[in-house]
Amino acid sequence: MENEKKIIWITGASSGIGEEMAYRWSKENCFLILSARRENELRRVQINCAHPEQCVIFPMDLANPQEVEHTADKVLSEFGSVDILVHNGGISQRSSVADTIIEVDRKIMEIDYFSSVILTKKMLPVMLAKKKGHIVVVSSIAGLFGFPMRSAYSAAKHAMHGFYETLWAENHKQGIDVTIVCPGRILTNVSLHALTKDGTPHGEMDHGQANGITAEQCAKRIVKAVKKRKKEIYIGRKEIGMVYIKRYLPYLYYKLVSTIKPT
Ligand SMILES: NC(=O)c1ccc[n+]([C@@H]2O[C@H](COP(=O)([O-])OP(=O)(O)OC[C@H]3O[C@@H](n4cnc5c(N)ncnc54)[C@H](OP(=O)(O)O)[C@@H]3O)[C@@H](O)[C@H]2O)c1
Repeated sequence: MENEKKIIWITGASSGIGEEMAYRWSKENCFLILSARRENELRRVQINCAHPEQCVIFPMDLANPQEVEHTADKVLSEFGSVDILVHNGGISQRSSVADTIIEVDRKIMEIDYFSSVILTKKMLPVMLAKKKGHIVVVSSIAGLFGFPMRSAYSAAKHAMHGFYETLWAENHKQGIDVTIVCPGRILTNVSLHALTKDGTPHGEMDHGQANGITAEQCAKRIVKAVKKRKKEIYIGRKEIGMVYIKRYLPYLYYKLVSTIKPT
């Protein structure tokens, strides 16, 4: 991080990876805008930041496009622009293609993909006017290959890669950086809140998350990658191997993915 105070807007900052990124960037003396639905949890994160006085909360529901647009307008009128926009807020899935009602597919796309597009379209013009800006996208390794019981989630994360790689290609010469982050299994509450076939929460801590690396370790890697202006990073343990298997040994990917027990 350079010496000037950066304004960083983090979505999904009320828990998990977003919360830990807030702590790390606050230690680096950045000014933070924290968003998520749960205002009390955002307040808790703000209080626990190294510099709570350099931190504001803007609650919003990413499932509500009008609310997302309105919040972006409020941020713009209060701060003019942001230096780093972190699309981290999101929801996972635990249900098969055959069982999942279409409303669940649409909801996951709205929260995990379209909300980020709305925010980006609001912030990009001011970033371009300043010839400077960094968009950080928290995707997943499920954004790089399909995975059982994650159809809409994987689709939303794949969509992010297409959109933000294109955004980079169109705008990097005008000073816009993009970092796409692909975590594997991280110890957070993501599986508890994941949607099932009818939109009810899964409500369980999955084995994968329970044995994942900590959100703190993940946030540390993300902040470091942003500083180095990395384009795409993978964070996790042996599950990251599947990224390379899909890329270099696709036949093996198809064999392995078909043996995964759907949970
Ligand atoms: N943990 C993993 O293993 C893993 C792996 C790959 C990718 N990721 C990605 O990492 C990101 C962060 O997830 P996490 O693991 O830190 O899980 P988490 O602890 O459940 O955090 C999810 C965050 O997203 C927010 N959020 C969810 N639905 C929202 C909505 N409708 N409107 C506004 N905010 C909403 C939550 O806040 P509120 O509930 O307060 O709204 C929370 O702050 C997600 O994009 C996830 O897909 C996680």
